[in-house]
Amino acid sequence: MHQPVLLYETIFYLLNKPDGIYVDGTVGGGGHLHELLQKLNKKARILALDKDLHTLEETKRRFQHDPRVIFVHEDFRHLSRVLAEHNLTKVDGIMLDLGVSSFQLDLEERGFSFHDDARLDMRMNRQDQLSAWDVVNTYDESDLVRILIQYGEEKYARSIVSNIIKKRQGKTIDTTLELAELIKASVPASYRREKHPARKTFQALRMEVNDELGAIETVLPQAVELLNPGGRLCVITFHSLEDRLVKHFMQWEARTCICPPGLPVCTCNHQARLEILTRKPVQPTPEECQRNPRSRSAKLRAASRI
Ligand SMILES: C[S@@+](CC[C@H](N)C(=O)[O-])C[C@H]1O[C@@H](n2cnc3c(N)ncnc32)[C@H](O)[C@@H]1O
Repeated sequence: MHQPVLLYETIFYLLNKPDGIYVDGTVGGGGHLHELLQKLNKKARILALDKDLHTLEETKRRFQHDPRVIFVHEDFRHLSRVLAEHNLTKVDGIMLDLGVSSFQLDLEERGFSFHDDARLDMRMNRQDQLSAWDVVNTYDESDLVRILIQYGEEKYARSIVSNIIKKRQGKTIDTTLELAELIKASVPASYRREKHPARKTFQALRMEVNDELGAIETVLPQAVELLNPGGRLCVITFHSLEDRLVKHFMQWEARTCICPPGLPVCTCNHQARLEILTRKPVQPTPEECQRNPRSRSAKLRAASRI
């Protein structure tokens, strides 16, 4: 089972209208959805999206008796279109709980985990073209190094990529364990003892395969447009690059003036569209981290539409 992260904190910030319309853009196993439904009355509606069809079907089965939820198999980057297709123009809350769920990690055949042996895949949406196999076996050296450094902050990126390039000259790298073994052999023994040495490379590949940063960049401006005044935007991130994107976006939308510094009077007529509700990101308590180690890197940021 996937344990929802920062559950009560997220619902606290998200909820502003008990009979409102909400979007859960990353419904996963429905942990946040379940809690939200407890707090909403019977007139409320929730649009629940996930780009992983298998996950969505499982969760839909679980909530099939609740007519307030509409399930949609779609990437949240298409949020405006999805809402329009459901004749909705504005909503009262949008939440995103980014990344993968424990459910996906535990499904061996999805190729997300370096603990199981499976074909290198990592696609959240199995209808997408690009898989981790393509990235590992077809990207050129400089792109692979860039991805491992940028998304994985992997300090042995060059050594790992150099071994990938050597290895694939003989034969393609097909499985998660093949890649994990190659990574182990590319890093010093001291690094191997810290955490699993494949952790950062696998995270970087997953972010590339699913264009995770691109999806956030695309959805945030749509989310602001789609919120009713007082409506809430809540985003849980697990990676510093994701958090930086959300933080800068919210700060920009909360500014009342964007004139260059030094102008005697404001000429920009810029209007703030968001009020930031979490001056610092909300992070899990030590108890939550102990109960659910996956929550350790989580950060929640919330804002309200002005
Ligand atoms: C961390 S899990 C969400 C868990 C959920 N909040 C719960 O409590 O059960 C993230 C989910 O978002 C989905 N996802 C990630 N990126 C997505 C995107 N761009 N569009 C739609 N779904 C996405 C993943 O497939 C995964 O099921």
